[in-house]
Amino acid sequence: MACAARIRDDVAPRIAAFTERHGRPPGLGVVLAGQNPASEVYVRNKIKTVAGAGCRAELFRLDQSAPVEEALALVRRLNADEAFDAILVQSPLPEGMGKDAEQRIFDAVDPAKDVDGFHPFNVGLLVQKRPALVACTPLGCIELLEREGIAMKGRHAVVIGRSDIVGKPMAMLLLHRDCTVTICHSRTAGLPEIARSADILVAAIGRPGFVTRDFVKPGATVIDVGINTLTDEADVTRLFAAGSKKRAAFAEKGSVLVGDVHPDVEEIAGAVTPVPGGVGPLTVAMVLRNTVTAAELRATRKAAM
Ligand code: GUN
Repeated sequence: MACAARIRDDVAPRIAAFTERHGRPPGLGVVLAGQNPASEVYVRNKIKTVAGAGCRAELFRLDQSAPVEEALALVRRLNADEAFDAILVQSPLPEGMGKDAEQRIFDAVDPAKDVDGFHPFNVGLLVQKRPALVACTPLGCIELLEREGIAMKGRHAVVIGRSDIVGKPMAMLLLHRDCTVTICHSRTAGLPEIARSADILVAAIGRPGFVTRDFVKPGATVIDVGINTLTDEADVTRLFAAGSKKRAAFAEKGSVLVGDVHPDVEEIAGAVTPVPGGVGPLTVAMVLRNTVTAAELRATRKAAM
């Protein structure tokens, strides 16, 4: 069974137990502002998975032109609503909300309901190796490594990308599993050489096909976090050989999903996660697991008060 399906199976008894004990299922409120096409797909998948597992999952939409105050008011309403144990505000937010909107809104989410683990309180707990709610994508990557039996202790892990959503929490999680961790980014000098020394290579830089064969040590485990949509034929022709699967997919649909890792890497790596179908479903499975974890943690805290 695929890893994401096993995770969903593992949380099923926890959902049943919570629902029986509290007379209601764990609840997730998802806030989606604007009409970003990729966000529409992600949010639909998250809601479908969480609701399909027997939790409550509700979508709250805001207009593309909604001011940041409206998003803040919605988050505060969900913070106060006992039916919701978990809150997810999909990123990116519309540009019109202002430059610091994301920070302000993530800061406003009750840390106990912070299913994404983006609140500074939860980031601090992660850094101190006492994690409660951890960002779903890096958590899904770690779950995959553990379930596939990939050794981490003492191994060199290289994370390409330093975002708050993936790169930084990923590095922390690998560190806490005794990897020696290097974080690389767009300004790193000699990136291919550093990447080539990795036993575990995580690509989360948001550049299609960026990690080529020369970045990869033979036999290394490569995790591709990138999800890039190519719509320009010139990009597809430049990146992929005639007769390749990516070219065929583009010819059929006029667009193609491409990770940060070039498909040629498959020939040299020990294992590579595919795009689509690799890290994406794991992220969604972790939204489900974190929803249940948030519900349980909140119930325990209430009982202790
Ligand atoms: N946008 C891209 N990835 C994520 C994620 O993991 N959580 C949220 N809230 N938005 C995202």
